[in-house]
Amino acid sequence: MRKTIILSNRLPVQLQINEGKMQAKPSVGGLATGMKSVHQEGESLWIGWSGLTQEEIPEDLESEIDLALEEHGCSKVRLTEAEVEGFYYGFSNRTIWPLYHYFLEYAEFELSNWKIYEAVNRKFANAVLEQASGDDILWVHDYQLMLVPQMVREERPDLSIGFFLHIPFPSYEIFRTLPWREEILKGLLGADLIGFHTYDYERHFLSSVRRVLGLEVNFNEINLEDRMAKVDSFPMGIDYAKFHEAAKKNADQKDGEQSDLQRRLYAHKASTPDAKFFLSIDRLDYSKGIAKRLKAFEYFLGKYPEYKEKVRLIILAVPSRSKVPQYQLLKKEIDELVGRINGELSTVSWTPIWYFYRSLGFENLVDLYTSCDIAWLTPIRDGMNLVAKEYIATRTDKTGVLILSEMAGSANEMHEALLINPNNFEQIADSLHRAINMPEAEQKARNTPMQKRLARYNVEKWAGDFMESLLTHKQSDPPYVAR
Ligand code: ADP
Ligand code: G6P
Repeated sequence: MRKTIILSNRLPVQLQINEGKMQAKPSVGGLATGMKSVHQEGESLWIGWSGLTQEEIPEDLESEIDLALEEHGCSKVRLTEAEVEGFYYGFSNRTIWPLYHYFLEYAEFELSNWKIYEAVNRKFANAVLEQASGDDILWVHDYQLMLVPQMVREERPDLSIGFFLHIPFPSYEIFRTLPWREEILKGLLGADLIGFHTYDYERHFLSSVRRVLGLEVNFNEINLEDRMAKVDSFPMGIDYAKFHEAAKKNADQKDGEQSDLQRRLYAHKASTPDAKFFLSIDRLDYSKGIAKRLKAFEYFLGKYPEYKEKVRLIILAVPSRSKVPQYQLLKKEIDELVGRINGELSTVSWTPIWYFYRSLGFENLVDLYTSCDIAWLTPIRDGMNLVAKEYIATRTDKTGVLILSEMAGSANEMHEALLINPNNFEQIADSLHRAINMPEAEQKARNTPMQKRLARYNVEKWAGDFMESLLTHKQSDPPYVAR
């Protein structure tokens, strides 16, 4: 039977060993949460890294781990500590991530990391080749695995190979600074279909293909002499029903059934009925603009001091890539900013910022979404930002205001939100003021079309569209046919 192989660095579950026992935790991040819904749907095998290095896996636990992953429809690629260092922390997150998010000054160009990136991509490709049979479909995900499509194609040109990039593709002027730009493009062009979240990322990619490789581009197809590679944009959706239904259930819960977090949030709301809660949820990442947001919050309270004791900012940051120096520095900066702002502004009855540095379970995420009046998301650059979509999906009574950075891919589809430039504190302060005072009728008028769109173009539809496009293109453009 034909199966789909999903290939990504992160599996939907992350394994940890605690006191000799294995524990599995759900992975955080747009790729994992989105693809998890798709993976449960049908016949698929998900290949990726377990989150543990080979050195961390005790020999007697190896088969238990494989079995546990098998239960989730997953199979692991073994990575050594040195590989994780060079491939994941190194090339993926110290070269590609900053470069593609326009943080050029953070990008390191280390030949040794590139070599490990190549070798580890080869490992992932080999894992696919071992598992692929018949006319399977391969769907490769994200910037950690950009060489895999070509590596697999060299052995199995008959497979349908799709690639999706979950982060921005930068403009040619940025991309051209990468010493291995040709290799990356050639690796990606091994796919039959290459997908991006937005038309802009697609355009940037095509421009780089034309200018770096000198290839002919016809509309959204690239002429590779023996075949055409297709490029298109597919804005990723969320599991709308899951969030919407969870929020409904949450609203219906009686006192005894509420989570601790929900009870506390409701108690706070009840004791200060005219207070407004602002919410921001992100991985702790410099691309998310968390430090700037804190400074903008301070600016807002300076410009509109009447909101002191009336608003509260709840910041949930999930630990991420904490071995990379920029992430460590950012953590320190955020800790200091929260401490300073709270220290300077708090009163006996008011703490302006509640800051949580941890991962939360699904129910608690929904508790936060449903009890906060305003979602305030200010990435400096973000491939999509699913949190914005999740917030809107949970607003079952259609109230709530979304303030969203125009630098997030999701801003293209959510133009009813209050869109802001994350560097413009004046505009941000005024948007917060506007959000606080927005009449309910206007909130509903803005949220209704966004909800409709999110319900219609959900993650299942997104994956279905990608697959259909891949298979149609493959059929119309068979391999081995010389042009
Ligand atoms: P990114 O993929 O860059 O992390 P997205 O906003 O697209 O950003 O996706 C983040 C995903 O991770 C969302 O599905 C969100 O629900 C989840 N998430 C973010 N923060 C947390 C947290 N603290 N605890 C649990 N899940 C989180
Ligand atoms: C983003 C990337 C994903 C990545 C996720 C979490 O969503 O697009 O590829 O998995 O962040 O980051 P991590 O480094 O923990 O996998």
